Amino acid sequence: MGYTRIDKTMADALCQIVGEGNYKTDLESLDLYGRDYTEDLCFTPELVLLPSNTQMVSKITRYCNENLIALTCRGAGTGLSGGCLPIEGGVVLGFEKMNRILEIDTANHQAIVEAGVINEDLQNAVQALGLFYPPDPASKGSCTLGGNIAHSSGGPRCVKYGTTKDYVLNLEVVLANGEIIQTGANVLKNSTGYHLTQLMVGSEGTLGIVCKITLKLIPYPPYRSLMLASFNNAREACATVPAIFAAGVQASAIEFMDRKGVQLSTQKNNIAFEMGEEQAYLLIEVDAFNEGELMPQCEKIYEALEAHAVLNVLMADDSETKEKFWKIRRSIGEVVKQHSIYKEEDTVVTRSYLPDLYDGVSKISEKYGFETVCYGHAGDGNLHVNILKNDLADELWEKVLPIAIRQIFDLCKKYGGTISGEHGIGLVQKPYLDIVFSEAQFEIMRGIKRSFDPNLILNPGKIFDM
Ligand code: MLT
Ligand code: ZN
Repeated sequence: MGYTRIDKTMADALCQIVGEGNYKTDLESLDLYGRDYTEDLCFTPELVLLPSNTQMVSKITRYCNENLIALTCRGAGTGLSGGCLPIEGGVVLGFEKMNRILEIDTANHQAIVEAGVINEDLQNAVQALGLFYPPDPASKGSCTLGGNIAHSSGGPRCVKYGTTKDYVLNLEVVLANGEIIQTGANVLKNSTGYHLTQLMVGSEGTLGIVCKITLKLIPYPPYRSLMLASFNNAREACATVPAIFAAGVQASAIEFMDRKGVQLSTQKNNIAFEMGEEQAYLLIEVDAFNEGELMPQCEKIYEALEAHAVLNVLMADDSETKEKFWKIRRSIGEVVKQHSIYKEEDTVVTRSYLPDLYDGVSKISEKYGFETVCYGHAGDGNLHVNILKNDLADELWEKVLPIAIRQIFDLCKKYGGTISGEHGIGLVQKPYLDIVFSEAQFEIMRGIKRSFDPNLILNPGKIFDM
């Protein structure tokens, strides 16, 4: 579909809505807003606007809709599926000026925030009041809550507490025609009509523009224990995960890291860490409201680990060690990016199939001559598979990569899963969506898109083609 290019008159009209100092037209900024964390893709927008309230967003959206200008929203650009890349040019709407925590309601355990609030800023603000907002993506220090809603982001703690979708009660959304709606109500229970709030969560900015968010909070559990278990066999590490659940423990994190991931992370971060023959690790955390509840949980975990030929278990006794273990885990995505050209897949299966998924990925990598780094949220059956190019020839990489990815995703389907657990489909996973959706499902989604955004101006070209 042909979108209107922004001429001088249009640019002036749009810039006037946000006012001086709240737009960007220079090439360096346009380049910056044309990228995210997805490999090294860049699609330059024509104009960047930084609105500071919902009314401005509404005016911009109405203008773009009337003039058929593509409009793509962006949080902090930490996405991993190209979801915020403006592939049709047009306007990028940045949310850095809409970053206020508007209310923390301690009586009702709710927070109302603007979409540009950084995840960790909310976590810290509510924790100071004894409350907890659990979803914690690796990029929590920079990613925005609006961006988290776009992909229903997860993180390590989601194994116990659920993902972003489990905390969103209500949204203030600007529709494609500029109208402002509430998707629900600020209540814990709601069986009133279609659940527009949940429809919006994970829709990657293709249905409407989220401006304000009402989030559910829970009491903060102040005590936690963390252990790092090593295995000389990655399959065995994966097989231990269901055994921990079977032992009756609800851990607050069960993260998998393969040898290469730990090696890269410790080397690039200069972290002192001794490695022997270990092939894989599980980082396991339990939390509690009373300190005395921790040890019985750790003992049960220990028994499950022993039954699965664990090599060694390191307990993180002080906050420094805890921080070190978490740093090793949280920075794997980042260090892989520095190490090689790569492609990241966000596979997810029923967790008891994790060993089979891991084996399958290893066989596919071997067949095509790729090196992989696998890590992620084993407790959720969510394995991030990073396929490294290293010194593979460009033509071979281009030719074989999509074939290998398709085979990996076929395995996800076979093992009861799907092709993204938390990074979304965006642009780069779009070619593979047919693995898990039938034409009937695509038609339902296209119908939803048309009814929200008949002129297809919102984040065009994402998730599926119209
Ligand atoms: C993570 O779990 O580290 C995040 O999903 C980020 C990433 O995969 O790069
Ligand atoms: Zn992750």
